[in-house]
Amino acid sequence: MPAFSVITFGCQMNSHDSDRLSEVLIAAGYSRTESLDAADVVLLNTCSVREKAEQKLRSEVGRLGLLKRERPGLLIGVAGCVAQQEGERLIKTLPQIDIVIGPDNISELPQLLARAEAGSPPQVRTQFDLDAPEFLQARPEPGKVTPTAFVTVMKGCDERCSYCVVPYTRGPERYRPSQEILAEIERLVAAGVREVTLLGQTVNSYQDPSAQLPKAPPATLQFRHAPHLRVNEAETEFPALLHAIAARVPGLKRLRYTSPHPRHLTSSLIAAHTELAVLAKHVHMPVQSGSDRLLKKMIRRYSAEEYVERVSALRDAVPGLTLSTDVIVGFPSETEEDFAATLELVKAVGFVGLFGFKYSPRPHTPSLKLADDVPEVEKSRRLAALFEVVEQARVANLLSLIGSTQQVLVEGLNQRGGYTGRTLRNEIVHFWAKTSPVGEICDVRILRAFKNSLAAELIEPARHVAWHDQKVQAAPRALPVM
Ligand code: SAH
Ligand code: SF4
Ligand code: F3S
Repeated sequence: MPAFSVITFGCQMNSHDSDRLSEVLIAAGYSRTESLDAADVVLLNTCSVREKAEQKLRSEVGRLGLLKRERPGLLIGVAGCVAQQEGERLIKTLPQIDIVIGPDNISELPQLLARAEAGSPPQVRTQFDLDAPEFLQARPEPGKVTPTAFVTVMKGCDERCSYCVVPYTRGPERYRPSQEILAEIERLVAAGVREVTLLGQTVNSYQDPSAQLPKAPPATLQFRHAPHLRVNEAETEFPALLHAIAARVPGLKRLRYTSPHPRHLTSSLIAAHTELAVLAKHVHMPVQSGSDRLLKKMIRRYSAEEYVERVSALRDAVPGLTLSTDVIVGFPSETEEDFAATLELVKAVGFVGLFGFKYSPRPHTPSLKLADDVPEVEKSRRLAALFEVVEQARVANLLSLIGSTQQVLVEGLNQRGGYTGRTLRNEIVHFWAKTSPVGEICDVRILRAFKNSLAAELIEPARHVAWHDQKVQAAPRALPVM
């Protein structure tokens, strides 16, 4: 049985695609291996969102090329966003590559491999499925079901933010029929999944192409966006999808989604957060900048005021909800004043997490024609200033939880042999237990805060192991800092 290995870069959509790549190969008779030395096929599932991601691909292909010299039968496949973006060019510049396959062609992989094994020259398949979009079903291997899973609700992106390559590499927005989404969640939950994260580039712009989704019930919330702010309630059926999932799959314990676009944080979505107990009390919503001048140049289609108004409404509606975000520093022409506005917004919102990126010019994007004029050292300085502010908010949030009781969905073992899971918001919690609670939601008491996570004790007397009874307690800093 030939063996394959997948190396994944990039976002959750890519890691979700890597699972589908693996499933397609397992169904075709391949076996998975973690060892490159044992692999007959190595797939690199690539990301192109920033320059560094692409450099990684080149160095990985170089590394695999050395292996291929020793074992000429080794097949190298490149999937994901760089594959889609570069297509034919990849096999011209990197002759070690045998297959280039785009995100919409995953199901064709076994045929491509069969041809490559028969000695075909390098092949390229990067065709978007615009007419009949395909959403491959998750088929987790028996015995390998994890408590948490991702479910795709849409692919592609119509936003066309001026800096972003994703609309080029993933194509226009296509939505998955609601019945397929519901059936997949039902199957996953029946198999043991407890928490689902709905995935899409602008996940909350979802619309049901099959028009089978019942309308969301009238909002019980009195909140209305200020009249001058642009929110089009009718543009999305995402709140209706959330209601349908909660109604159809009562066994689902937690529901998250990523990434929402601020433009579609409608009052019905805010209301859904108050009405559906299954929804996590944490939202990751990229803001990118706090300067209206830059938001306009980025084509984000909201102002800093609109962003703050919407997240404040969400937080007022859901006490205790935490937020995290993405920010780009050093976008072309970003001044000290623009950055100060970003820093101010980040402080004002009190994000407990932030992915900060230095602007990097990407092919096929409108902002490519703007000079990348913020010096590298300045980009680094701005990024560090942002991280400092967010770290303070994160630590304050973790400290505020000491002594509280939290419900933790246990995801697995940590590096010290204890267990680790997440709260309904998203804090990582470590604790000990006599028997495995993996996959369960456990009540724990928070004892102390680390830099990025919490230590707790299980409240359930039968399985309780006190934190201080553990020998390794002497070295708590050795716990994974996630
Ligand atoms: N669809 C998601 C974001 C996907 S890309 C959303 O819009 O919410 C993930 C993050 O990468 C973006 O939020 C942005 O902060 C960053 N990013 C995208 N293009 C970039 C570029 N050219 N340079 C630097 N960061 C970029
Ligand atoms: Fe890129 Fe903007 Fe689409 Fe996000 S919303 S994927 S940043 S174009
Ligand atoms: Fe990267 Fe493609 Fe995701 S560019 S961030 S892997 S959609």
